[in-house]
Amino acid sequence: MTDYHCHLLPGIDDGPSSVDESIEMARLLSKAGYDTVYCTPHLIKGRYEADNNSVKKSINDLQEALNRNGIPLKLLHGREYYLDSNFMDYLDDLMPLENTSNVLIEIPPHTYPGMVEDSLSAIMRQNLTPMLAHPERCELFVEKKITDVPRKKATLKSLFHRINSSPLPLPRQEEESDNKLLLWMIGNKCAFQSNLPSFKGIYGEKIQATAQYLDSLGVYTHSGTDAHSPGGVKKLFGFDELQ
Ligand SMILES: [Fe+2]
Repeated sequence: MTDYHCHLLPGIDDGPSSVDESIEMARLLSKAGYDTVYCTPHLIKGRYEADNNSVKKSINDLQEALNRNGIPLKLLHGREYYLDSNFMDYLDDLMPLENTSNVLIEIPPHTYPGMVEDSLSAIMRQNLTPMLAHPERCELFVEKKITDVPRKKATLKSLFHRINSSPLPLPRQEEESDNKLLLWMIGNKCAFQSNLPSFKGIYGEKIQATAQYLDSLGVYTHSGTDAHSPGGVKKLFGFDELQ
């Protein structure tokens, strides 16, 4: 089993602060059934700015430590890019998930759909595929527009099936515009990574309902823990309760 989104590296972002903590987290992920983990530290200008070479070196060091400790987890590299106004500065050195064309991105709150489309288009011009992290948590086009208004659920469902060549009826024009960005991404074959904690209700009922709804549409292509600490992995898999 592969974890496509995880903050496992020590001292790079808001993940573990020490190697020992990373090793404990890796041990728990292995116990949960994972054999492969993409290490996807944040890249946010002004907050988490480690360069790609530092990430690769950190992965090599941690992999050696896991091997020494007999933890059967294969680490692969990636980043979690933040689509703010600084994202374009990183375009020349994008690091997709290792051995794939997928570039993991997160959409900040309070951003504009046009800016997101510009950034995603720039990724696709490099023949890379934007992979949206936890769309169920993206308030821009999900929380208010879909889960709060039952009528919009039917609308999105209709549009999604239309993109996939289903003969379902078209919605009215103004309804289509409400979910334009999500539909634009689906139409451009972007990838969508769900967070396991969303399904478990760890971020609350609203996000859980959104995740279940998007899953029912078949939007998701990948899954991840988005874990940041050993405690987060324990909570996700209920390990504390089992001990
Ligand atoms: Fe993350």
